[in-house]
Amino acid sequence: MALFNRTRSTDGRKREIVRLGHPVLRVVADEVPKERFGTRALRDLGRDLVRTMFEDNGMGLAAPQIAVPLRVFAYYVPGDDDEDEIPPRVVVNPRLTLQGDADALGWEGCLSVPGLRGLVARHARLVLEGFDVEGGPVRAEAEGLHARVIQHETDHLDGIVFVDRMQGMGSLMFEEEWEKYSTQKDLPVES
Ligand code: NI
Repeated sequence: MALFNRTRSTDGRKREIVRLGHPVLRVVADEVPKERFGTRALRDLGRDLVRTMFEDNGMGLAAPQIAVPLRVFAYYVPGDDDEDEIPPRVVVNPRLTLQGDADALGWEGCLSVPGLRGLVARHARLVLEGFDVEGGPVRAEAEGLHARVIQHETDHLDGIVFVDRMQGMGSLMFEEEWEKYSTQKDLPVES
């Protein structure tokens, strides 16, 4: 399913996405040390995450998903009637300030759990703080889909996948069946 126009390209390299079962998805990733900001390796990691995210039609991708156990993720939120587009962004060492209760239900999928969708309750609002690959500050107030993507990606840095956050397995579906039978057709977060 095309979530958005996938013709955007970056100069990064397409990397292999690891799937559930690979141990890297279950460890707490390491903070990026300050001395690695602005290095070629960190810039390349950021570009590769964005490129791979777009090639695989995702809204987000965390470094552990390409087998790099560092606290880095990329994300992108396509605009629609309710949401402003958030251009592709790479966040290093994110910190979240979650607001309110985790009671906003929405569909999620994961490039590391291909083919499945499930309903996950998330905080509707948060503040994201962190760094870009050069070490410059990143700060964003996020809500709705934007807040959901950020929570999903930050979970990957802590070894958590969306199925762990489901309150029950009753809503777990394959994508095709979701297309056919789901009565709630909110844009799923596939990241
Ligand atoms: Ni994911």
